[in-house]
Amino acid sequence: MTIEPDAHTAEHRLKTMHQRLGGIAYGGDYNPEQWPREVWLEDAKLMQRAGVNLVTLAVFSWSRLETADGVYDFGWLDEVMDLMHEHGIGVDLATPDAVPPAWLIAQHPDILPVLADGTTFGFGSRQHFDVSHPVYRKKAMAIAERMGEHYASHPALRMWHVGNEYGPVSYGPHADKAFREWLQRKYSSLDELNQAWSTDVWGQLYSDWSQVNAPAQPRTWSNPSRRLDYHRFTSDSLLEHYKAERDILRRHTPDLPIVTNFMRFYKTNDYWAWAAEEDAVALDIYPDPRDEDAHVAAALNFDLMRSLRKGQPWLVMEQATGAVSQWPVNVSKLPGKMRLGSYQAIAQGADSILFFQWRQAKGGTERFHSGMVNHAGPNTRIFHEVCELGQELKNLAGITGTRSTARAAVVFDWDCWWALELGNSPRSDLSYTQEVLRLYRPLFDANITVDFVDTKSDLSAYSLVVLPASYLLTDEVAARIEQYVHDGGRLVVSYLSGIVDQDNTIRLGGYPGALRKVLGAWSEEMHPLAGEGEEVKLELADGGAGSASYWTEHLHAETAEVLASYSSGRLAGSPAITQNRFGSGSATYISARVDSGVLHPLLLDECAAAGVVPLLEALRGVQVRRRSGDGKSYLLVLNHNDAPASVDVLDGGMDLLSGSRVQGTVEVPPFGVLVLEESVSEESVTAEATR
Ligand code: GAL
Repeated sequence: MTIEPDAHTAEHRLKTMHQRLGGIAYGGDYNPEQWPREVWLEDAKLMQRAGVNLVTLAVFSWSRLETADGVYDFGWLDEVMDLMHEHGIGVDLATPDAVPPAWLIAQHPDILPVLADGTTFGFGSRQHFDVSHPVYRKKAMAIAERMGEHYASHPALRMWHVGNEYGPVSYGPHADKAFREWLQRKYSSLDELNQAWSTDVWGQLYSDWSQVNAPAQPRTWSNPSRRLDYHRFTSDSLLEHYKAERDILRRHTPDLPIVTNFMRFYKTNDYWAWAAEEDAVALDIYPDPRDEDAHVAAALNFDLMRSLRKGQPWLVMEQATGAVSQWPVNVSKLPGKMRLGSYQAIAQGADSILFFQWRQAKGGTERFHSGMVNHAGPNTRIFHEVCELGQELKNLAGITGTRSTARAAVVFDWDCWWALELGNSPRSDLSYTQEVLRLYRPLFDANITVDFVDTKSDLSAYSLVVLPASYLLTDEVAARIEQYVHDGGRLVVSYLSGIVDQDNTIRLGGYPGALRKVLGAWSEEMHPLAGEGEEVKLELADGGAGSASYWTEHLHAETAEVLASYSSGRLAGSPAITQNRFGSGSATYISARVDSGVLHPLLLDECAAAGVVPLLEALRGVQVRRRSGDGKSYLLVLNHNDAPASVDVLDGGMDLLSGSRVQGTVEVPPFGVLVLEESVSEESVTAEATR
């Protein structure tokens, strides 16, 4: 039995879009205004050849759509939309707010964002706006309104793309005012603000609201609580802008999905808050082809995107076919890697494969960023790979809408990220994302599917929860974590967790303050290891040995059992890893950066104890994922290695890419992929329907 999503839900809008597209969305950004009209027809024909069913238009077209204040010219875009429709290609239409035109900047130069040091950005790139500027906002809303009105009933329109990669931060006068208003909504009085920001430190007490402003560059180090609030304010104010445009478009087209595009490891915006306001999460992903391990960080980002809307399929909004132009050396992807990366995204829940961009630009900043059609034209390796992938994806229509399930969760939280990296802490080189990656990696390598959750999420669905460097935890969150373990959950916590409260104020009485009780252990002092390559030795309770580098702390076990202690250095004899039985669960504390020979088995033991099992046993670099739903189940096997890999796929299934049945031990070619449609028993379909 299929449960139909309610009309007017995000799920329904997406389902309808994919039905109209005939399955997975395939295509990319299309910027026809950069090309003469005769190229447009050639483009449409080549798109058909490549199997393109969706293009994103108008992302950077504001100056062509509103040529002077209030003078709109949609004629050329009408032509392109019609052409797309005539060729059976849908349109993801963007509002062009990323590029306020030169005439608007000339009229209101203070739209340009101001850096913390007071420098104003110049015109000539993009994202050159202070989102708090009232005229910018008014003009952005006006063009969204016009576009909504004009294109609502265009037959090619499939989806809206609001703005592009929201992110400009400004410290100018408009931001000052908006920040003050945001703070007045948050704090009931100036006293409360003074308290939260610890303004008695360094005599920063405010006596009137008019003195409070954006944290522009001070003479020396700046107040970390104020800066944390500024991060929150920036994310909120950009989101408010997105929502205002979205609401305009929603009035015109209640049945179409509306999204904006996210970025990989993007610190400015709290994507949990953003995702809740989207119809689908959409990601731009540009791994550096020089990095052989790039698929691991990509996997983390993909799992995060899948988790942001609780497992709902998400969209790859942009990726490159070959080289990008943002690294010091821009190498092209190896043959087969673009295909592999695309299937990796699909395996991890994506229902679209879109590129930036259709035709490689011949001028402008990104003239060397690859396209689906490159400078040399369609008779190229890249275009052939683009066409092959487009054809293959047609066989995968059934996968759209299916989901993955996980019993392990890793916490990823923007408040923790912002607060951890504010500096003036025991180390200034702390990277939140690297800390998360370090704990995610063993689970990825073992083919254990994980969800990401934020600190506010309900944890009860998971039998294992990992908290990497979860620096900021509120009392309420700490109490819920405690309850989770008490009720039988298994928790793994790494150093620099639970250190501060919501105001970025240290919790007293021993680190990690918020989790001290559940961990049954406390630290009296932090001891980062300063020397390049400095290591201390570890002795494990099971007789093994290992090492720690970068971070250690002077830990005391209270009720916890000691799993590893230092056997060298100034902390010799003190515990490094502890485990505490608490209620019916257990909480493990990894208080040092232990080597992978210690970390990986520890995490896998925790998985085993929590009943969390790998999808398949496979060699390192062979990724396995399952997507299922609607009475269907797919097992995707991806070989990220540059050598063939033997994998036992057990019962296997029909490989949708080769068209043959696959079971038992199979050899997957270098960078190869299997998409196996598994046979699904009656019982599991019933179980699915009643879940
Ligand atoms: C994205 C952006 C695109 C294009 C692409 C390639 O971040 O949204 O417009 O610039 O990067 O660099």
